[in-house]
Amino acid sequence: MSVLSSFDLSGKTAVVTGAKRGIGRGMAEALAEAGADIVGVSASLQPGSDVEQAVTSLGRKFTPYQCDFSDRAAVQALAAQLDADGVKPDILINNAGTIKRKPAAEHPDDWWDEVIEVNLSAQFVLSREIGRGMIERGSGKIIFTASLLTFQGGITVPGYAASKGGIGQLTKALANEWAGKGVNINAIAPGYIATDNTQALQDDPDRSKSILERIPQGRWGTPKDFAGPVVFLASPASDYVNGEILTVDGGWMGR
Ligand SMILES: NC(=O)c1ccc[n+]([C@@H]2O[C@H](COP(=O)([O-])OP(=O)(O)OC[C@H]3O[C@@H](n4cnc5c(N)ncnc54)[C@H](OP(=O)(O)O)[C@@H]3O)[C@@H](O)[C@H]2O)c1
Repeated sequence: MSVLSSFDLSGKTAVVTGAKRGIGRGMAEALAEAGADIVGVSASLQPGSDVEQAVTSLGRKFTPYQCDFSDRAAVQALAAQLDADGVKPDILINNAGTIKRKPAAEHPDDWWDEVIEVNLSAQFVLSREIGRGMIERGSGKIIFTASLLTFQGGITVPGYAASKGGIGQLTKALANEWAGKGVNINAIAPGYIATDNTQALQDDPDRSKSILERIPQGRWGTPKDFAGPVVFLASPASDYVNGEILTVDGGWMGR
């Protein structure tokens, strides 16, 4: 296999959670451009979405599923439905995520529970259910969307930081068990990316200025910045990469 053809995803099926917008949409479009058919999942995804149109205009198939990741039974039902529909994912992008901002002293239990469920527990359940089939087939790629808060504590987002710290450990835990079974588990840790998730920071002039001053590249990231990294980790080009957390942050973590 030549180096360039090792990035080819033709004939592969990728399940992308949180595919409707933001980073997940950018990843879904990049995987489609590299040749993969996309099974998109999000809380409110409907047939005919913008991401569906982008993927199909690249000549790839797009199949939408709706699922609320804060509901454990719904995540189990999604896994069962994918199986019943004959979906055999080669690639799983665990990207759907939520964030709740409030100082720790006032951070309510239900916010904590929701963020941990959506960002960590649902990701484990889906990876376990889909990963089982990958193990049986002897191949697969699972990519989590981690965060700078996988490494740092953040400010006023204790549940989010805890969930993303957990994602870093889950990446390594699954890699330790499944690397020898042909399944690569890795994560991408985005820096500060201009999406709905960071709207509150973008709208706060002080936070926005201090964030920008620390990014060596001097700009916020965009969903397009994930095209190369996600195709790399989803393709045979990364077959000997396991348990890695790839930061895509314009240099933030180096400072
Ligand atoms: N933006 C950043 O700077 C940044 C930095 C580090 C990490 N991340 C991580 O990157 C991932 C994507 O974030 P983003 O910035 O692209 O955020 P976004 O624009 O807010 O998009 C989040 C996506 O996740 C889906 N989602 C949220 N809650 C869900 C739930 N309960 N059930 C099912 N789907 C749900 C949304 O579905 P709907 O569209 O249907 O609502 C949406 O498609 C997240 O894991 C986030 O934590 C982002």
